[in-house]
Amino acid sequence: MKEKLLAKFQEVYGDTEGARVFFAPGRVNLIGEHTDYNGGHVFPCALTIGTYGVARKREDQTCRFYSMNFEKLGVITVDLTSPLKPDEKLNWVNYPAGIIWAFGEKGMKVSQGMDVLLFGNIPNGSGLSSSASVEVLTGYILKTFFGFNVTNQDLALIGQFSENKFNGVNCGIMDQFAIAMGKKDNAIFLDTADLSYTYAPVKLEGAKIVISCSNKKRGLGDSKYNERRAECEEALAELQTKLDIKSLGELTEEEFEANKSLIGSEVRQRRAKHAVYENQRTLKAVDALKANDIATFGKLMNASHVSLRDDYEVTGIELDTLVETAWNVEGVIGSRMTGAGFGGCTVSLVKDEAIENFKEQVGKTYLEKIGYAADFYVVEVGDGPAEI
Ligand code: GLA
Repeated sequence: MKEKLLAKFQEVYGDTEGARVFFAPGRVNLIGEHTDYNGGHVFPCALTIGTYGVARKREDQTCRFYSMNFEKLGVITVDLTSPLKPDEKLNWVNYPAGIIWAFGEKGMKVSQGMDVLLFGNIPNGSGLSSSASVEVLTGYILKTFFGFNVTNQDLALIGQFSENKFNGVNCGIMDQFAIAMGKKDNAIFLDTADLSYTYAPVKLEGAKIVISCSNKKRGLGDSKYNERRAECEEALAELQTKLDIKSLGELTEEEFEANKSLIGSEVRQRRAKHAVYENQRTLKAVDALKANDIATFGKLMNASHVSLRDDYEVTGIELDTLVETAWNVEGVIGSRMTGAGFGGCTVSLVKDEAIENFKEQVGKTYLEKIGYAADFYVVEVGDGPAEI
């Protein structure tokens, strides 16, 4: 991989003098969906697939970017002497540019240019956080090159800040945190209310994590993501007329049921119900995994999908077809949509001996019903960003 990337860097930028190679993973969330902006818990893990970056410093104030995933776009240039602003013409480079901007906003001005080449083996728009991967990777490169005193957790926060303020998506902290803090063979049990976290080994004896990619294209910006977030905020404000709480994540199921009538619309009640119940499911799921009770973990994943489908309404025919078909395949321990939803992919725990049959059955039904093919990836849990 390294040779291939350096050869391409040479082709694009003329030579490889001073070039260094970096990697940041993608992530998959096992459970705890749409809880991270509701002060709840999430349980994602970093993957061994992600984004590779070759970079070197320049003597001037020009940054040049090239992606092997968007070769037709060629080299895209960012001039550090004028203020950085989101710009459609920058295309995917809005993500690294947003990070450079965010460092500046936090008092860490980047005043020296770079040549950068990226290659990602996360399917684009799949919901495995290719954009957060690029953000954390860029932050890691800046920290390494310019000696900024930031931790990996800071890189996650800077990534979220740039996504919110530069790229206009009001996302929570989960994706950037899972990527920046990833640990091989472990999922991260993160309390988004205070960013306290622990690692939990993902021991799936005799089973693997299978990602089914719907190939329905979507971007977070044009999805209903921000709308869901606003609905939850409104429901919280309604509950706060009586309850002394800071977030929906503070409520148990019982407390929610006793007070839900404070929420003035049936739709907002369902949105808030999902946030509360999904948080509680995440706590139970982590306990189950720690107790080696994979069957219970799988059932909680299935219940998570039902709630995302019926109460939160972020699934759609593509994700529902993948998940509902998976539920009926022998050897499937659990299956649910993962990430923001509205497209993207699903995560399933599948027994080793059932994986081939799973791909065949789910793939066939999906193609018949949706009219185009799904892709399947058996993934492994990997580490956070690194120079390689
Ligand atoms: C996207 C966001 C995350 C999180 C998930 C839903 O991936 O970037 O912050 O809200 O959706 O759980």
